[in-house]
Amino acid sequence: MSGLPSRFIYVCLHFLVLYFQLQESHQSSADFRFYIENHTRDDVSRKQVRIYQLYSRTTGKHVQILGKKINANGDDGGKYALLVVETETFGSHVRIKGKESGYYICMDKNGKIIGKLNGSNPECVFVEEFLENNYTALMSAKFKGWYLGFNRKGRPKKGSRTTQTQQEVHFMKRDPKGKVDPQEEFRFTTVTKRTRRARRLRPNPKTN
Ligand SMILES: *[C@@H]1O[C@H](CO)[C@@H](O)[C@H](O)[C@H]1NC(C)=O
Ligand SMILES: *[C@@H]1O[C@H](CO)[C@@H](O)[C@H](O)[C@H]1NC(C)=O
Ligand SMILES: *[C@@H]1O[C@H](CO)[C@@H](O)[C@H](O)[C@H]1NC(C)=O
Repeated sequence: MSGLPSRFIYVCLHFLVLYFQLQESHQSSADFRFYIENHTRDDVSRKQVRIYQLYSRTTGKHVQILGKKINANGDDGGKYALLVVETETFGSHVRIKGKESGYYICMDKNGKIIGKLNGSNPECVFVEEFLENNYTALMSAKFKGWYLGFNRKGRPKKGSRTTQTQQEVHFMKRDPKGKVDPQEEFRFTTVTKRTRRARRLRPNPKTN
């Protein structure tokens, strides 16, 4: 009967020992951290991918990537407004691709905004900046001080004519599902997922 408490104490001691062992091994993991950092810089496969929309402060619409042509006249939930944003594990450098068109947003040496299929060029990398006014700005990683921006008609602005304080370069990142009609969403995502899961979980009727 007293076997239970003493077993409990034994287990506790066991964990205590394990804890100290872990503490020790923690030090050697510093090297591993270095390795990861060094490894990450040139390893493209370590990127994270998010999907969002970019709401433009000037047009009240969303950035859409039609192909080579990019504008800020996209509707909320429009298929060309869905952006696939690739981020390095460390840092705020992003590559932004249109989910539908597959073209990346790039800024050439003249500051012109253009869509490119090959996004590996440094001209297609932007730095996310979170501004005090809670808007997000995207500065060209290659041409520092030049921003992604759109005028009131939704046309892209030349990077050389932008500054961080202009409304034209202010965006809000928005969840693609943000404004989808709740019933529509329920019908198309939740139910589909559930049916698929149910199908997977259901045992094969023939074996029963
Ligand atoms: C990683 O980089 C640091 C600093 O440049 C260097 O000291 C270290 O030896 C590197 N580690 C590996 C595993 O390459
Ligand atoms: C993409 O662009 C990079 C850099 O500009 C170049 O090295 C690479 O060959 C290009 N890839 C393709 C598939 O065109
Ligand atoms: C930015 O967002 C924070 C947190 O939601 C809020 O407290 C702050 O007032 C906002 N700032 C502006 C300028 O809207």
